[in-house]
Amino acid sequence: MKYAILTGGGDCPGMNAFVRAVVRSVLNLKPTASCWGVIDGWRGLVENNYRKLVKRDTAGIAHQGGTILGTLRVPELKDDPELQETLAINLHDNFFDYLMVLGGNGSLRAAETLDKIIQKNSLRTKILAASGSIDNDVCNNFGYSVGFYSSLEKSLEMLEWIRDTASSHRRVYIIGSMGRDSGYLAFYSGIASGAEYIMIPREKVDYERLATLIDERDRDTRIIVAEGFDKTIEEIREVLENIFKQRNIKHEIRTVDMGYFQRGGKAEIKDILLASWLGYCMVIDSLNKCGSGFYGAYNIGQKPKVLSLADAVDDTKSTHYDIPKEMFDFIKALR
Ligand code: F6P
Repeated sequence: MKYAILTGGGDCPGMNAFVRAVVRSVLNLKPTASCWGVIDGWRGLVENNYRKLVKRDTAGIAHQGGTILGTLRVPELKDDPELQETLAINLHDNFFDYLMVLGGNGSLRAAETLDKIIQKNSLRTKILAASGSIDNDVCNNFGYSVGFYSSLEKSLEMLEWIRDTASSHRRVYIIGSMGRDSGYLAFYSGIASGAEYIMIPREKVDYERLATLIDERDRDTRIIVAEGFDKTIEEIREVLENIFKQRNIKHEIRTVDMGYFQRGGKAEIKDILLASWLGYCMVIDSLNKCGSGFYGAYNIGQKPKVLSLADAVDDTKSTHYDIPKEMFDFIKALR
């Protein structure tokens, strides 16, 4: 049997643990099989760029951030049926029985598209995918994405650092968070750090009320803004400064973006365990000749929930697209 392993989309802590788990599980449980890393993610499939992986290649990498395989984005893949077909044929022509994917929602969509082409043309390769992204935007109904908790830990640390300056200067800090259209990273890190306000995608903000809240506190205020919110941190600053001027509110405002720092650094133990468990479970199922599918899991030791790739990319079936109202009640109660 021949395996290809691909890490796609934005890198995240836990990707290396996944690679390690797949390589070791395959080679220990089926010594006649071979494992090939797809170099640079989806770009590697375009260019047929693979590297044979042995157990030694994966020593000491489980906790390391980023991905040893690399991940280059291929934006044209989404809308180019010819390119999609080439990738499906490349997998087949290289005799890969399984492609094991860890990536975000873009990677899942690519996996689903290729799988359709593979099935339609009776090609060889099956695709098993799991969610690896700091955005936590896929299949939250069935756990969390690998990398999310590592990124939360880093965010929390940064938010505590900013607190020192914010409180020393009694300033308002408007702090940007990554997460694309998903508000989870901003929301959860905001809750954990006790931020005074969190702005997430699709939420309407009453800026006059927010100005009153800041004024009444007469202390430091941290406002966390998710990437997909309808205003940038600079635009929010401008709105608030105008209100402050009209109402003679004296607080100073500063902006800062946590951005790429949220994505780097070592993997937290929760992500290492989840990524390893998912990789192992995918290998076990592949040895039993399973079909393509998406693997979602909450905890190590619990059998992952397996969905079809089509259901996994369907927002109405597999994701909490919007953060539930109960979570807002929860955060208000902690304010
Ligand atoms: O998907 C992960 C993520 O970090 C998003 O939060 C962010 O919008 C995006 O990737 C940034 O992508 P890039 O690294 O291509 O700039």
